[in-house]
Amino acid sequence: MESSRTFSRRRRPLIVGNWKMNGLIESAVDMGEALRQGFDERNTSCEVVVCPPFTALHALHQQLGESSVKLGAQNVFCEEFGPYTGEICGIMLRNVGCRYVILGHSERRTLFGENHSLIVRKTMSSFRDGLQPIVCIGESLEQREKGETLVVLQEQLLPVLKALADQRERWVQLVVAYEPVWAIGTGKVASTDQIQEVHYYLRGLLKEHFDEDASQRVRILYGGSVKPDNAAAIFALPDVDGGLIGSASLQSKEFLAIIDALPAVD
Ligand code: PGA
Repeated sequence: MESSRTFSRRRRPLIVGNWKMNGLIESAVDMGEALRQGFDERNTSCEVVVCPPFTALHALHQQLGESSVKLGAQNVFCEEFGPYTGEICGIMLRNVGCRYVILGHSERRTLFGENHSLIVRKTMSSFRDGLQPIVCIGESLEQREKGETLVVLQEQLLPVLKALADQRERWVQLVVAYEPVWAIGTGKVASTDQIQEVHYYLRGLLKEHFDEDASQRVRILYGGSVKPDNAAAIFALPDVDGGLIGSASLQSKEFLAIIDALPAVD
């Protein structure tokens, strides 16, 4: 579907691939090569980030080289080195080429018990360590059916906004990803009306807690069963600035087709 919308220059469109716990080094490198070629040939002005498992970061960093495809991690711990068995800090992620980090994904909130305060600490430590945080928020099906969506999203996002309140240089770098939990990995995508309603609401929240300029500069991504056949309609929505893509980011053809679905930048 051809979109008539053009992106505002103030928000560069962003597509992030979340590979989750998939891929060994060899397949990650093959995928990196396909994306490097595909993306660099396209010469689009959007930003593309891939977030492989930790074990593939170094190899992918070498593989991507000078490519404009950027690297991100799927999680980070908030301390800076020390006795934290099993954890990885932001400086280590920078050391293997990461520029972004996904925080508060619903799988981390539900399977690993991450709460709002830990996500705030991780957001602040990511900024400290030179990583741009992509903070995920989203309601469950039960919460949506009870009409609690906006309240739940506010509860998830406000602690982050409050922690950043007096740090203007940081808040404009924040990326928010709205991912309805019931749409993640299920093939059930939220309707364009549902997505636009939430994104508009989130932008209003940014305006209330930062200011008009910030609300126009912070990128808000949609995630949850984005595929090549529904991406153009989602990206055409005025308050959607790109996508956080799970399963469709594991195939280079599908991921590149999603990049192609972005409207032009004006
Ligand atoms: P999905 O995952 O695209 O497979 O629904 C999105 C995500 O979990 O970030």
